[in-house]
Amino acid sequence: MSEKDFIVTPWEVRGEVDYDKLIREFGTQPLDETILRRVEKHTGTLHLLFRRKVFFSHRDFDWILDKYEAGERFALYTGRGPSGHTHLGHLVPWILTQHLQEKFGAELYFQMTDDEKFLHDPQLTLDKSVGFTYENALDVIACGFEKGKTFIFSDIHYAKTLYKMAVQVAKHITFSTVRAVFGFTESTNIGMIFFPSIQAVPCFLPSILKGKNIPVLIPAAIDQDSYWRGVAREVAPKLGFYKPAQLHSKFLPGLGKGGKMSASEPDTAIFTVDPPEEAAKKIMNAYTGGRATVEEQRKLGGQPDICPVYYYYHMLFEAEDTKLREIYVSCKSGNLLCGECKANLTRKVTSFLVEHQKKREKARDHLQDYILRD
Ligand code: TYM
Repeated sequence: MSEKDFIVTPWEVRGEVDYDKLIREFGTQPLDETILRRVEKHTGTLHLLFRRKVFFSHRDFDWILDKYEAGERFALYTGRGPSGHTHLGHLVPWILTQHLQEKFGAELYFQMTDDEKFLHDPQLTLDKSVGFTYENALDVIACGFEKGKTFIFSDIHYAKTLYKMAVQVAKHITFSTVRAVFGFTESTNIGMIFFPSIQAVPCFLPSILKGKNIPVLIPAAIDQDSYWRGVAREVAPKLGFYKPAQLHSKFLPGLGKGGKMSASEPDTAIFTVDPPEEAAKKIMNAYTGGRATVEEQRKLGGQPDICPVYYYYHMLFEAEDTKLREIYVSCKSGNLLCGECKANLTRKVTSFLVEHQKKREKARDHLQDYILRD
C-alpha cells in the first residue's frame, strides 16, 4: 500500500482518507451550501458537524427535505456494532442524529449488530457482544435521545421481526454482489455473507411497523456506506419501499499518527467509560505533529491540519467558531504549544466524561423504555 492509498470498509479504515475521492467512488453528493442553507431553515443555527463539514456527503437528503416540507415525516436509522465499549468516534454520528431527532421530531431506530460483531471477531463470544449491546445502549441514551421516539434493538433479541424481512432482502442479493461490495472471499464465514441483509432491514422497519411507506435517513460515518449502496438501495424498489437516504461523516482520528479512532487500538482511543485520569494520560501522550523543541515550534509553528488534538476541538470540543479559529491560528504561528493545547483539551474531555458517565449511569434505570422487543 503506497502513502496515497487508503481503504474504507465497514471493518477496516486505513491510510489517509481522501473524502472527495470517496464521493466519486461511492457515487454520493457533497453536502453543499444550497442544501445546508435549506437545513438551516428548519434547524435554526447550523449544527457544528454540518457547519464544519464533518458531515460532508449525502444521498437523497434533498429528497428527505422535499418530503418533510410536503408534510411527510421521516424516520432516522443508525447503529452500533457492539464489540466493546463506545469510544468518542462513535458519538459523532449519534450527536448529529440526536440533533436531527430534536429539530425534525423524527423517530429513531437504532440497530445493535451483536450478530455481526460475533461473526466477524474470532475472539468475541456471543454472550459478550450481546452484553455490549446493552452497555452501548446506555451511551446512546446518554446522548439525549427522546424516550417514546427512540427504539434500540439487538439483532439477536429482535430476530423474530428482523429475520422475516432479512430473508426477503437476501433473496435479491447474490454472492457476487456482496463479494464485490464488501470484499468477501472464499474463506469468509457464511454468517458474514448473509449479514448485510440484516443491516438492510431497519431501512424498511419503520414502514413495516407502521404499515405505510416512511422515508428513512441514515446518519453514519462513511465506512457503513457499502450496506446502503450495495444492498439496501438495490433491493428497496424490488420490495416496494423507498430507498433509504444517507448523511455521511468523516472519521474522528485516533490519538496516534494517522488513522481513525478505533477500539482495536485502545491506547489511542478514548472510551466513554475511561476514568478521566486515564483519558488525560492518553491525550498527553497523543501525537500532534509538533516540532522537536520549543524553539523550533516557536519558529516553525505547529501543524493543526495533521494534528488529532486539533481535530478533537474541531469535531467535538470547541463549539465557538471564533475560538476554534484562534486555536488554529495560534498553533500555526507557534504561539500555542502542544503541551498547553493538550492540557486545555484534557480539561474539556474530562468534564465531558464526568457528565456523560453520570447520564450513562442514570440511563440504566430507563434502559427498558428504549428497547424494542418482538
Ligand atoms: P460501528 O460500531 O463500527 O460504528 C458505530 C458508528 O460509529 C461510526 N464510527 C465513527 N464515526 C466517526 N469517527 C470514527 N472514528 C468512527 N468509528 C466508527 C460508524 O460509522 C457508525 O455510524 N455495522 C455497524 C452497526 C450498524 C450501523 C447501522 C451503523 C448497524 N446499522 C446503521 C450506522 C448506521 C457497526 O459496526 O458500526
